[in-house]
Amino acid sequence: MKACIRGVGYYVPEEVLTNQYFESYLDTSDEWITQRTGIKERRRASSWENTSDLGAKAAERAIKAAGVGRDGIDLIVCATATPDMPFPSAACLIGAKLGLKGVPAFDLAAGCTGFVYGLAVASSFVESGRFRNVLVVGSEILTRIVDPMDRSTCVLFGDGAGAAVVSPSNGASEILGFKLHADGGYGELLYLPARGTALELTEEVLEKRLHYAKMRGNELFKIAVREMANVSIELLDELGVGKEEVDWLVPHQANIRIISTLAKRLGLPMAKVVVNIQKYGNTSAASIPIALGEALEQGRIKSGDLVLLVAFGAGLTWGAMLIRW
Ligand code: ACO
Repeated sequence: MKACIRGVGYYVPEEVLTNQYFESYLDTSDEWITQRTGIKERRRASSWENTSDLGAKAAERAIKAAGVGRDGIDLIVCATATPDMPFPSAACLIGAKLGLKGVPAFDLAAGCTGFVYGLAVASSFVESGRFRNVLVVGSEILTRIVDPMDRSTCVLFGDGAGAAVVSPSNGASEILGFKLHADGGYGELLYLPARGTALELTEEVLEKRLHYAKMRGNELFKIAVREMANVSIELLDELGVGKEEVDWLVPHQANIRIISTLAKRLGLPMAKVVVNIQKYGNTSAASIPIALGEALEQGRIKSGDLVLLVAFGAGLTWGAMLIRW
């Protein structure tokens, strides 16, 4: 049995942070941010919203689009680097918000590749016959873990959530395959030193701002481009699909220069690439389902299209998935 994506939904918080907002208090400019990243604005969750709130809203929309009803969901997987708290998991909290009593739920930590990892887990469960309808959510509130005084990270990230229901294929639409990779040896290129067991939240730790994400952007950039291109080609070769057959590339939205270099390496024109980084910045595990959700809403992705998802993120992790829509 093959699996397919039966419905997609997304939700972004209302508050918009423009580049001008950062200009107002940091040594940065709209021109630098636009040219170096492609980002013009991003969203910020309200103080009363948590990751599970965003995720539950996206999930409701995905379940509606899938037409399976809440009662049809057999498993909840939430990909996130910013859960409400270490436990209970964001997936359990989303389940409670959706009223899904007794449905198994767990979080998955694979940085910005989390949604592709989540779809891979879901499709494997569906293909095995173990579960029928798996809800995969990517939800993040990154504005709470980036240092508002660090211009090299705070301008990049935003909040949002996206979700999909993975179900048995009806024969037309199907997940054709995926490839996942990780290399923890590169972990310190993007890490959050002090929100786990490694460091206690002492005054010194807070003073050194170690409770905020640290990133070596320049080094990440080169690895991201190389590995996203490699994993895409590895997957297409394995499936015997030519690059020219891909109708849509839906990449993780981290930097427009990473996306356009990747498209060039894959020989795909930008007209076949889904880009919305200008509106939302990098929303980590939420970026691919938000981009997918928007492209479907706009009628760009149509049934029968070959859609290539590819992501790269903290871990480091990277992965690709090919879908016949
Ligand atoms: N405004 C103005 N100047 C800035 C800003 C800013 N917001 N941020 C950095 N600079 C400065 C730096 O301080 C540096 O100044 P210096 O030369 O005086 O030291 C200069 O700009 C160049 O810095 P670089 O880091 O070399 O700039 P680069 O062109 O590499 O762009 C960026 C930085 C945007 C972070 C880029 O490297 C990038 O996008 N990297 C990939 C990041 C990424 O993908 N991260 C996430 C991957 S995983 C995930 O998505 C969670």
